Amino acid sequence: MNYSIQKIAPFDTYPVRHLVLRFGKPIETCHFNGDDLLTTHHFGYYLNGTLVGVISLFEIGNDHFSKQKSYQIRGMAVLSSHQKQGIGEALVQKAEDFCLSQNATLIWFNARTSAVGFYEKMGYVTIGSEFEITDVGPHFLMYKAVTKK
Ligand SMILES: CC(C)(COP(=O)(O)OP(=O)(O)OC[C@H]1O[C@@H](n2cnc3c(N)ncnc32)[C@H](O)[C@@H]1OP(=O)(O)O)[C@@H](O)C(=O)NCCC(=O)NCCS
Repeated sequence: MNYSIQKIAPFDTYPVRHLVLRFGKPIETCHFNGDDLLTTHHFGYYLNGTLVGVISLFEIGNDHFSKQKSYQIRGMAVLSSHQKQGIGEALVQKAEDFCLSQNATLIWFNARTSAVGFYEKMGYVTIGSEFEITDVGPHFLMYKAVTKK
């Protein structure tokens, strides 16, 4: 097995976002506002040359937290055929390493309720109550302070 995590272009994320996060919806729904900003970064997990997982980092704060350099994780997705093999964890680890390299101190995101347990295993915590994102479903706000180990 040959794998690597690489920086990818926004549109490279679409096939995986589409299958995992926007299945049955128009491909245009795979474009997120801010995808093309220079401050937004996308990473892909390649297994034997095939893209099987993606994660995106948007440099943006959240009113729930004090002003600090923060990134929001969006578009976190691993193909269903490749889930539960450590790929998601490797992508989040990559995101954390990247945030540290940019001197960011906080990662936050709106987690699908079904994925909360995954993030909790990596030390993220929920804040507040569950809320609904239209057309997507129930979510929790989650965060973690990123620090050098
Ligand atoms: C959530 C998701 C990104 C996790 O990726 P993954 O590659 O399957 O996760 P990993 O294999 O790296 O899992 C790491 C650990 O979390 C656990 N885990 C994975 N998904 C989980 C979930 N949904 N709930 C609870 N625990 C989970 C794994 O069992 C593993 O535990 P272990 O270390 O004790 O064995 C992936 O399942 C996915 O794309 N789901 C659909 C889309 C989605 O929900 N994206 C997140 C939107 S916020």
